[in-house]
This record gives sequence, structure tokens and C-alpha cells, in this order.
Amino acid sequence: MAAIGSAVGLGNIWRFPYVCYKNGGGAFLIPYFVALFTVGIPLLMAEFAIGSIFRKSAPLAMRDISRKAEWVGWWGAFSAFFISVYYCVIMAWCLCYLFHSFGLIWQPDASSFFYDKFLGVTSSPSIFGGINVQIVFALLFIWTSIYLILYKGVKSIGKVVAITVPLPTLLLLILTLRGLTLPGSLNGLEFYLAPDFSKLALPSVWLSAYAQIFFSLSLAQGIMIVYASYLKKDSDITNNSLITALADGGTAFLAGFAVFSVLGYLAFQTGLPMEEIARGGIGLAFITYPTAIAKMPFATSFFGVIFFLALLTFGIDSAFSMVEAITNGLKDKFGMNRRKATLLICMLGFFLGLILTAGSGIYWVEIMDHFISNFALVIIGLLECLIFAYIFGGEKIRKYANEVSEIKIGRWWNVFLKLIAPVILISLAIASIVELLTEGYENFPSWALAIGIIVVIFGIIISITMVRIKCRQAQ
Ligand code: PHE
Repeated sequence: MAAIGSAVGLGNIWRFPYVCYKNGGGAFLIPYFVALFTVGIPLLMAEFAIGSIFRKSAPLAMRDISRKAEWVGWWGAFSAFFISVYYCVIMAWCLCYLFHSFGLIWQPDASSFFYDKFLGVTSSPSIFGGINVQIVFALLFIWTSIYLILYKGVKSIGKVVAITVPLPTLLLLILTLRGLTLPGSLNGLEFYLAPDFSKLALPSVWLSAYAQIFFSLSLAQGIMIVYASYLKKDSDITNNSLITALADGGTAFLAGFAVFSVLGYLAFQTGLPMEEIARGGIGLAFITYPTAIAKMPFATSFFGVIFFLALLTFGIDSAFSMVEAITNGLKDKFGMNRRKATLLICMLGFFLGLILTAGSGIYWVEIMDHFISNFALVIIGLLECLIFAYIFGGEKIRKYANEVSEIKIGRWWNVFLKLIAPVILISLAIASIVELLTEGYENFPSWALAIGIIVVIFGIIISITMVRIKCRQAQ
């Protein structure tokens, strides 16, 4: 349940539906499932098995495999922490919007409300701008909640995810039903799912499918390794991986119905073409969807509250899984107690997040997200595959998984871990680098992109430093 909580998050609601429509609609499901079965599930199984075999957090499990691999574990954990810094800021926005839903105060122009009034966005990433106190309090609330959930240990995580996994799924169902009963919804769905098979010939469509699977399954950050380290010794690896992966994909698919039915309604109401209305990411959650909600015939505030509550509850278990990866590493390596490690990380997360609550914050959220998910995660995933398959031994993992699992995996799995996944991840990394060099990223100036790269490199440097710091256990 916790693994599903980590996987299903903001990425399922605003990323999948958009990526799907942009890359061939219904036809995108083909590369999506191919990516799920060729990289997603094999790597997820490997992470679950490694966690279950070593019963340690990722850095120390990696260290047991080879001393040279420890830094990769740290790099994953630090990347998860960096993601948590901006992920929690987005959740803080959701929390503010949950309250704004009561008065629908983003009306009449949700876009200028969001950018000008709410965020006070500056004209460039270099101009810091003012801090919105409301967002600071919301951020403080989010980090305090994370601390309170985590400091006691896995038992309380278990209790929380028993609510934060089913509740938002139910809310999503309500939103879907509401969406589907609005006029124009079917046009929206047609836009989302009408298959355009010609897109399957484009390499970029396949790369998008792999990137989506990677981010969405929370791979390569040691999260699934840590969670699996808490499983009972003979827990079923294959079943757990399949359930996590399919629940994640299923929720994303369902979210598409909730989102596109409402966008169809908005197109119907405004007479604008779907191409202009459909967008992903931050704009979808804070501008397009709120605009559509305000135009609903009744119970507008109610659906606003449900939407933002769903985002918050979907997001919170992803956010604390990111924190778990690093605090468990600190606990295992330095013998730090759980409470202290959690407090330290939550405070650090909050203070770093403060920078992102300023007028320039949204630029930095986008830059960090782009660089960490497109570069750091993909490279860490690649290193993980190589370490698991070649240093530890893919066959050992497969044997272990088969011993404890009901569904047995064949030798084909080794080919995926050893060959197919690494080749795909290398192509992903190269494609991202080429794209960055040739097209840049959005309209960001190159110095801002350089900072994105520096954050990634900084992650590597602190990871190597962590390995070098001597501690009782490491000597
Ligand atoms: N998988 C989460 C989502 O889809 C995001 C996430 C990324 C969670 C990295 C943990 C680590 O929103």
C-alpha cells in the first residue's frame, strides 16, 4: 500500500493525461505498456528484491553489493530529497487552493490570479520577488504533517496510507463521474484517447513513455528498496511489483477521464478548440481545471475542494516516501535516531522550499523538475540496472524472487535487466542531452539551465562525500 502511495501522486493526475494526448492519444497506451513491462516492472522487481534481500536502505544495500556502488544509493536518496523540496511547494499551492475553492476566488481570470496575485511571478528567474506568506504557512503545515507521520516509524506510515491511497481514488472516481455527465465531455475524451498510430513511428513518443513510467513508479531513488526492506522476509516480490505497477497505471488512466471530460466541457462552454485548452503540468491544476470548475452548473466549490483534496492526498504519500529514502540512509549509516534524522530532513526541506515560495519560485520548480527527472533519475536508473545485473547478478535476484513469489519469472527477465533496460535508459539520457543542447529548455536563459545542471552535479558530490565520511558501521 505504501509503495502504491509513493507511485501514485501528482504525476498521475497532471502528467499522464497530458503526455498521453500529446503522444498519440489511445495509441500511446502501446509504448506506455511496453515501457511498463520492459523497464518499469523489471526494475521495480529488482528494487523490491534488493530491499528484501539486504533489509537496508538503498545506500547500504548498494554498499553490500559493492563498496563502489554506495554513492549511487546516496545519489538516488538525495535526488528524492531534492524532488521533495519542490513537490511539497506544489502541495502547499494545492492546500491554499483548497481554501480558495470555497470562494472560487480565482475568478474571473484564473491565469492572472495564479501568476500575478497568488504567486506574484517575477519577469525572470533572477528576480527574486516577494514571498507569499500564505504559501509559507501552507508549506510549514505540509512539512510538519510529514514529520508527524514519519517520526514514529513505519507503523504510522501504514496507518496513513490506509487512508491516503483509497480516499483520493474515491475522490477521483467522483470527479470522473461528474466530468462524464457534463456536456462536451465526450469530445474531451475523444481528444484524449483517439488513437493516432502514426505517432508510434516517432522516437520521442517512446522516450516520453519511458520517462513517464520512470517518474511515476518512483524508481531509482531507493524508495522501493527502503519500503521492501520492511517487508516480511518471504513476501511475494512479483505480485507486489505487478500490483504496484498496475495500480499506478490504472490510476493515471482513470485520471485522464476525470481531466479530459472536464476540459471537453470547458471547450464546449467557451467555444475554444481543445488544442488551446489542453495543457499539462502546473497550468492544468491551477488554471484550466479551476476555470472549468467555476463554470459547472452546481456545487462548484464542492468539486474544487474534492479536486485539491485529491491532489493533496495523492501527493502526501509520495512526498513522505521521498523523505524516507534519505532518513533511512542516515539512520543506517550514522546510527542517527529516526526522530532526529526526520526532523533534520524536514527542517532542511522546509527552509530550502522557502526559496521557492518567492515570486521566482515557479521557474525554479520547473528547472529542478526537468533536470532531476530527465537526467539524474535516468542515469541513476541506468547505474542501478548495471549494478544489479552485472555486479550483484540478475540471476540471483530472479532466483530469490521466484523462491518467494507465486508467479515465477522466466529467464527473459535477465535479458531485460541486463540489456534492454540499460540500452533504453542510455538512449533516454542521450536524447535528453541532445534536446537540451539543441533546443534548450522552454525559454529559460542558459545560466538558469546551468544551475539545473549544478544541482544534479551537487547531488553527485554530496553522495560521494557521504561515502567518505567515516562512521562506526562503515569502518
Ligand atoms: N511517483 C510520484 C508521482 O507520480 C512522484 C515521485 C517521484 C514519488 C519520485 C517519489 C519519488 O507523482
